[in-house]
Amino acid sequence: MLKIEGLSKTYGNGTAALREVSFSIEPGEFVVVLGKSGSGKSTLMRCINRIVEPTSGKVFLDGEEVTGASKGRLRELRKKMGMIFQQYNLIPRYSVQANALMGRLGWNSSIASIMNCFSDEDVARSSQVLDRLGLADKASHRSEELSGGQQQRVGLARALLQGPELILADEPVSSLDPASSRQIMELLTEFNEKDGVTLLCNLHLPALAREFGSRILALSEGRVIYDGPAGDLSETELHAFYDSNL
Ligand SMILES: Nc1ncnc2c1ncn2[C@@H]1O[C@H](COP(=O)(O)OP(=O)(O)OP(=O)(O)O)[C@@H](O)[C@H]1O
Ligand SMILES: [Mg+2]
Repeated sequence: MLKIEGLSKTYGNGTAALREVSFSIEPGEFVVVLGKSGSGKSTLMRCINRIVEPTSGKVFLDGEEVTGASKGRLRELRKKMGMIFQQYNLIPRYSVQANALMGRLGWNSSIASIMNCFSDEDVARSSQVLDRLGLADKASHRSEELSGGQQQRVGLARALLQGPELILADEPVSSLDPASSRQIMELLTEFNEKDGVTLLCNLHLPALAREFGSRILALSEGRVIYDGPAGDLSETELHAFYDSNL
């Protein structure tokens, strides 16, 4: 469903963040991208949905080329890709429900456009999802009043309400305590297994990567240095992807 061919990104200041990255993801996979700080994990996610324009290489979603798609087409393609961020990216003064409903409009919609344009069906679906994620009693609270774990659950609700085929999660738990981290990872697993959403998730903790990922893609200095089942890796190998410059 996702195919990456020779993807490279060199930023304007000369930093080569991705170098000839190639891999494919089948529908229903849960792939964890592991790599130390600066290895190119966020750049990879951002090049897939073109928040950042790749320097060269191609990205295909369901056989359609994302790289090179027109603005209008890109908007449509982005609707298939939910995104979850380390810092949640909620609108602090908006209610939990309004933030979740933004998923119905695609994550790149302008903030002004979100008011007064939801169908009763959208509102009902958002209530269902908030209930499922344990946020029913918070629906009318401002998102800024929530704990980190709760805010990330709103981020998950927003992504799920988008009805995505693929979720790109960029370090979804690195601002959270261990208990909340586990809860968020379990919810992502549920999205993957129950809702059939394909997952590409950046993590920097090897233990979580092994526990939740069925496949691990390790990046070092913008290159893929391992791509295979999590279970095939020894503890030492797994840690090396994070700790050293293999
Ligand atoms: N906008 C930018 N302009 C210039 N260089 C950048 C930019 N964004 C990232 N980089 C550089 O690209 C490289 C890869 O960064 P990236 O953020 O993709 O890494 P990462 O693996 O997500 O790191 P972290 O674990 O710290 O989030 C780093 O050397 C970083 O300094
Ligand atoms: Mg990052």
